[in-house]
Amino acid sequence: MKIRKALEKDVTGIAHVHINSWQSTYAGILPHHYLASLNIENRKKNWQRNLNMLHNSTFVAENSHGEIIGFASGGPEQTKDPHIQGEVYAIYFLKAYQRQGLGRQMIKAVIDELMKMGHKNLIIRALKDNPSCGFYEALGGQVVAEKSVKMAGSELIEVGYGWNDIKDILIHL
Ligand SMILES: CC(C)(COP(=O)(O)OP(=O)(O)OC[C@H]1O[C@@H](n2cnc3c(N)ncnc32)[C@H](O)[C@@H]1OP(=O)(O)O)[C@@H](O)C(=O)NCCC(=O)NCCS
Repeated sequence: MKIRKALEKDVTGIAHVHINSWQSTYAGILPHHYLASLNIENRKKNWQRNLNMLHNSTFVAENSHGEIIGFASGGPEQTKDPHIQGEVYAIYFLKAYQRQGLGRQMIKAVIDELMKMGHKNLIIRALKDNPSCGFYEALGGQVVAEKSVKMAGSELIEVGYGWNDIKDILIHL
């Protein structure tokens, strides 16, 4: 398994993982029709845009065949909260590659980059119903924010896991 910075040529692989992982992760949380409608071309365009954002950083995980099986991205906190500096925006693996320790390795790559950018603290947002919240709890995240959000017509609760000192997450990686 190899974790490396994402390149422009990776957009198809990232979009594929994005859609597949969303469909398995959010089944029963987001409406079926919405998940079924996720479109590879739209996702590719979004990722093309994301990869060109100067202050963000995206990493991919490749299997031994060079196929992208996971990705993660991070950068400055997105809501301009004056107290929070860094954010991991997304981390997704294909189901077959989950719970093998890759999440820890991948998030380490993003955190190292956020620290290089000078971010001193961290937030990661997730839907409360997502069982993967256990991942952030295992990494020492404390719930520092909670709000209701509307996604694909559903009212859901989003939680923010915070680390006052970004270095604290490294103890768990
Ligand atoms: C969340 C995710 C990125 C974690 O990556 P991973 O490679 O599966 O996680 P790791 O194997 O590195 O797990 C590290 C620890 O986190 C905890 N953990 C991970 N996933 C968990 C889950 N679903 N439920 C409870 N605890 C979990 C465990 O303590 C685990 O250690 P253990 O396996 O030794 O018990 C991955 O499972 C994933 O892609 N999930 C689906 C997409 C998703 O929900 N992304 C987050 C959106 S906010």
